[in-house]
Amino acid sequence: MSLVNQTPQWQALQDHWDAMNGVRMSDLFAADPGRAPAMTLSAAGLHLDYSKNLVTPETLSRLINLAEAVDLKGWIGRMFSGEPINNTEQRPVLHVALRNRTNRPIRVAGEDVMPAINAVLARMESFVGRVRSGEWTGHTGQRITDVVNIGIGGSNLGPKMVCTALAPYQREDLRVHFVSNVDGTHLVETVQRLNAETTLFIVASKTFTTQETMTNATSARDWLLTALGDQAAVARHFVAVSTSAERVAAFGIDTANMFGFWDWVGGRYSLWSAIGLPIALAVGFDRFVELLAGAEAMDDHFRTAELSANMPALLGLIGVWYANFAGARTHAVLPYDQSLRYLPAYLQQGDMESNGKGVTREGVAVDYSTGPVVWGEPGTDGQHAFYQLIHQGTQLIPADFIGAIHSHNELGDHHPKFMANFFAQTEALMRGRRFDEALAELRAAGIAEERAQFLAHHRTFPGNRPTNSILMERLTPRTLGALIALYEHRIFTQGVIWGVNSFDQWGVELGKQLASVILDEIQAGRVMADHDPSTRALLEHFIRQRHA
Ligand code: F6P
Repeated sequence: MSLVNQTPQWQALQDHWDAMNGVRMSDLFAADPGRAPAMTLSAAGLHLDYSKNLVTPETLSRLINLAEAVDLKGWIGRMFSGEPINNTEQRPVLHVALRNRTNRPIRVAGEDVMPAINAVLARMESFVGRVRSGEWTGHTGQRITDVVNIGIGGSNLGPKMVCTALAPYQREDLRVHFVSNVDGTHLVETVQRLNAETTLFIVASKTFTTQETMTNATSARDWLLTALGDQAAVARHFVAVSTSAERVAAFGIDTANMFGFWDWVGGRYSLWSAIGLPIALAVGFDRFVELLAGAEAMDDHFRTAELSANMPALLGLIGVWYANFAGARTHAVLPYDQSLRYLPAYLQQGDMESNGKGVTREGVAVDYSTGPVVWGEPGTDGQHAFYQLIHQGTQLIPADFIGAIHSHNELGDHHPKFMANFFAQTEALMRGRRFDEALAELRAAGIAEERAQFLAHHRTFPGNRPTNSILMERLTPRTLGALIALYEHRIFTQGVIWGVNSFDQWGVELGKQLASVILDEIQAGRVMADHDPSTRALLEHFIRQRHA
C-alpha cells in the first residue's frame, strides 16, 4: 500500500496550498457574503462555525477527495460494525457501542455486545442508586460522602474532566476526587482531608497492572485499614473497574464489587464504560445516560452525514490541511468555560496517544506529520499567558474556541464579558491589524511621528490565523457527550487519513519496561543494568544522595 502522501489527491492539495499562499481570509469573506453561513454546521446540539479557516470551497472539496481516496466512510462503517480495526491488537474499537442507546445489534465474533453492555449499565445504576441514597454504607454504617477514583491515563482523565465539567449537577454531600500520579503527594494530599469511614475508593484500571494505580490502590488500602483496623472494611470501601476479574480478586477486591468492560474499549475512549462510574456517582445515573445520549447523537451524525456536512470529518480534514500542508505543529484547544479546564489535558491523551504514530497500519514508516501537539487552557486565562504567540508569533497555530450561550453561573455581566473575549479573539486572530492601521491609531493618539512609525511595527498583527468556533446552548451532560464524541471522531478521521492505527499505544511501553529495571536498582541501592552514561551517572547520583 502506498503512503497517503503518494496519492494524486494529496498532490492536488499540495498544489492547492501553493496556490493559496498569500490568500487572506478577510478577502475570502469580502468576496463571498455567503461564506459564514455556508461554513456553519449544527449537529447534536453543537453549533460550529469553521469559516475562519484558511480554506475555500475548493480546499474542502480537495480534502474530501482525499478522505474518499482513503475510504473514510468505509472505515467509519468498519468501526461501527465491530470489525477488528485495531490491527496490532486484533480488536474491534467499540466505544461507540457503549452509547448505542437504541440497542442496534453490534456483533463481535458473531455475538451481539449490547446485552453485556446493558447488564453492566444496570449494575452501575443499582450501585449508584445505593450509594447516592445512603443505602450503601461504609464499614461502620456511615453513608459515603467522598469517592476517590484511583486510575491514570484513560482511567482518570475522562472521568475527571467530565466530573469537573458537570460540577453544577453534583450534590454537595457526595464529593469525587481523583488520584492518578504515583507521586505519593497526590494520594496523601487527597486523603488527609477525608474520613476513612465515609470514603469509597474506585480502583479503575483496564489492565489492573498499571504500576501507578496499583501502588496508589495498595497505599489507599493501607490508609483505610490503619484507620478502620479491620480487613473486612475493604469490601465496603473498595470497588474496582477493570477488564480483569482475576487481577481484581488477586488484589483483594470482591468481584461482586467489580464493574467490567472489554478489551475493545480503548483506555482513552473508556469514560463511556464502567470507567465512568465516578461520573455516575457524582451526577447521578440518569445524567450519565444523558452524556451517553449526547455522544450517540454525534455518533449518528458522524455515521450518516455526507462528508461535506460532517462536523467531525470536516474538523479532522481541516486539521490535516494545517498539519500536513500549512506546516502547523500544534493545535490549541481553548474552552471559554472554566468547567472545561481539563478538556485540553483529556484531549492530549485522546489525540496524541491515538495518532502519535510513526508507521502506518501496515508498519511502513511515514514521512509526513501525524498528530500535532495538542494543548490549551481556558480563556480568558490563556489570553493573559500564551495568546501573544498565537497572534504575533511566527508559527501558525490553529485553535478551537469552545463556549456556551448560557453559563451555569450567570453572575452579573460575567458571561457577556467572557464571551465578548471569545468572539473578539477569533475576530482579531483572523483580521489582524495592518501597519497603516496601527500607524493611524498612534497618530490619532497624538504620538510623535518618529515614535509612531517605530511603534507601528510592534503593533501590527499579521492576522489570517485560523480558528474554529464551537458553541452550545449550555454545558449539559448531553452537549458535553456530543462535544467529546466530536473530538473522538475528529481524531478517528485524522488517523484514517494518515493511515495509522489510532487505537494502540506501544510507544508508552518502553519507558514502563525501563522504569521497572531502574526501580529494582534504586531499591537495591546500586546500578546493575546497562545504561547510557548520562542515565548511569544520574542514577548513581540519586542513589548516593538518597542514602547520604
Ligand atoms: O498510558 C498508557 C495506558 O495504557 C493508557 O492507554 C491507559 O489509559 C493508561 O495506561 C491506564 O491503563 P489502565 O487503565 O490499564 O490502568
